[in-house]
Amino acid sequence: MTAAIATGGAKEGSGRGWGEFVTVETEDGIAWITLNRPEKQNAINPGIVREMIAVLDAMEEDDSVGVVVITGAGDAFSAGQDLKEYFRVPDAGPPLDRERLYASNAAWQWRRMMYFRKPTIAMVNGWCFGGAFQVLIGCDLAVAADDAVFGLSEINWGIIPAGIVTKSVAEVMSQRDALYYIMTGETFDGRRAKELGLVNIAVPREELRDRTRALAETLKAKNPFVLRAAKTAYHHVKSMSWESALEYLMAKSDATKFRDPEKGDQAGMRQFLDEKSYRPGLQTYERNG
Ligand code: COA
Repeated sequence: MTAAIATGGAKEGSGRGWGEFVTVETEDGIAWITLNRPEKQNAINPGIVREMIAVLDAMEEDDSVGVVVITGAGDAFSAGQDLKEYFRVPDAGPPLDRERLYASNAAWQWRRMMYFRKPTIAMVNGWCFGGAFQVLIGCDLAVAADDAVFGLSEINWGIIPAGIVTKSVAEVMSQRDALYYIMTGETFDGRRAKELGLVNIAVPREELRDRTRALAETLKAKNPFVLRAAKTAYHHVKSMSWESALEYLMAKSDATKFRDPEKGDQAGMRQFLDEKSYRPGLQTYERNG
């Protein structure tokens, strides 16, 4: 059931800061965000960046949205940064404008996505090149079509995977695999992306949306406050020592229990230990139960 359509057309969306390059469809608590430049394989231009920042702000504030999915219109997830609008034009323009453009791109693809307050899923429906890896890896989870085509193509046109692409790739791929694809520019499909740990799931194209929706439903059923804390904690502990991580996680756990509006830990323990109504190893406690 479609609960609300946040925006479909350019006119409606543009008043809210998006709609020309990015569309949003909200359905049963899942926001389907679509990069919408199919005629340019959804190459990321300043318009997409501007609209994605507005969309992410809005989706974070919208209490009816539980999970965000990012995908692309047409044949592509995204063909990466727009070679003309992100490289040729700014490279020839004032340095400050170029710096601002790059900073705004980094703003949504890295920090904003990594610490986004709701779960995010990349649904890779087709071409996924270069800068699109930042969006892909910036999402918490990813589902790809078996035949989606991925590539770190930068080497093919004489640059290194910059922005924050190389760092993103180093986070999720082994050194051997990362260097192989960075240095050869060879493409690979969704199945290989699954083997490489770049995506969680690869499915036949016709199952892509349903499988993504099922994953989103799983996430939607969890305690959102605790989900957010778990994700934030994961990103922070990655760069901590074991000693610091232990201290941080204990404090974060206490803070989460204290602040959780649902008091999920108490409900879970009561339902398991006293009421014997569920098994935490196998499912989520009965929320509101
Ligand atoms: N930047 C700017 N424009 C791009 C683009 C990009 N990254 N990727 C595609 N486009 C444009 C093409 O120039 C073309 O524009 P035109 O219709 O005005 O000529 C349009 O999108 C369609 O692309 P086209 O190349 O005709 O599609 P295709 O199906 O033959 O090939 C790709 C698809 C993705 C393989 C090919 O477009 C490509 O190699 N793109 C660049 C990918 C890349 O290296 N990205 C890394 C950037 S960091």
